[in-house]
Amino acid sequence: MSVLQADEEELGLSEDTLRALKEFASLNLGLDPNAADFRRTVQDAMDTIPRNENFTFNFTSDAPQTQPGAGDAVTVELSGVSPELGQTLASTGLTVWTAARHLAHYLFHIRDQIAARTVIELGAGLGLCGILCAKLGGSVVVTDGGDEFTDEALGALVEQVERNRSVTAAAFECAVERLTWGDHDAFLKAHREGFDVVIAADVIYEAEAVVPLLSTVTALLQAKPRARFLLGYTHRNVNIDRVWQEAHARGLDWREIADDFSGSESAAQIYEVRLKEEQ
Ligand SMILES: C[S@@+](CC[C@H](N)C(=O)[O-])C[C@H]1O[C@@H](n2cnc3c(N)ncnc32)[C@H](O)[C@@H]1O
Repeated sequence: MSVLQADEEELGLSEDTLRALKEFASLNLGLDPNAADFRRTVQDAMDTIPRNENFTFNFTSDAPQTQPGAGDAVTVELSGVSPELGQTLASTGLTVWTAARHLAHYLFHIRDQIAARTVIELGAGLGLCGILCAKLGGSVVVTDGGDEFTDEALGALVEQVERNRSVTAAAFECAVERLTWGDHDAFLKAHREGFDVVIAADVIYEAEAVVPLLSTVTALLQAKPRARFLLGYTHRNVNIDRVWQEAHARGLDWREIADDFSGSESAAQIYEVRLKEEQ
């Protein structure tokens, strides 16, 4: 009896199904299809595959806000992989990074400046910050793009938005669109009115992405008077000074927002960026 036949009997699969399973496991999981105990080999591999976890982000404050729609307690529910596994993923957008958590706290802190405003999130990943803005009464488009933004990542982002829409009693305006930095002409044509607030978290990690990112940010800031860009930044491979050099050349100015809102020390910073003449 061949190993294949023995496995087939143990697993209760037809020979064709087992062959297909072995081919899949060999191509996609790098497993040995001839392993004596194939079932155990598959099981062990499945145990090391990142599984989705549910994350609940609660934002609360005692201080009442002046704008209607800006709630004093907001919850965002997401599902993704744990950040510790993020580096091993096909897309860095399948988890929530520190900079996004920090920026989200800041956005909640300034929620009366988000309610009834138009907001776009760049490089949204699972979309924590954009979804929060929609829950705070903003009219939001969450975007992501580039080589890493697979159909799986797009599906994950849409899933997060719909999941939060379904548990939100109030109006929840949140669209999902593809937008690759530096390739924004068609997008801006479809959104001529621009956005009041541009947000992005943990998008500075590849030197070659800085110029396209800033070109899209500049185009978005030019599309609407007094628009501003709020960046959640964690130091990775790219020094922030390199970013500001490039921003300066594009007529942008920036300031670091003092961290007097999170109530705890964070490994991330928030910057506000505007067109120079509007300072
Ligand atoms: C480190 S993740 C941050 C995700 C999310 N903002 C967070 O902080 O949790 C970087 C995100 O930028 C996106 N990205 C990378 N290159 C891009 C590009 N050229 N255009 C648009 N998005 C891009 C990735 O797909 C990913 O979602």
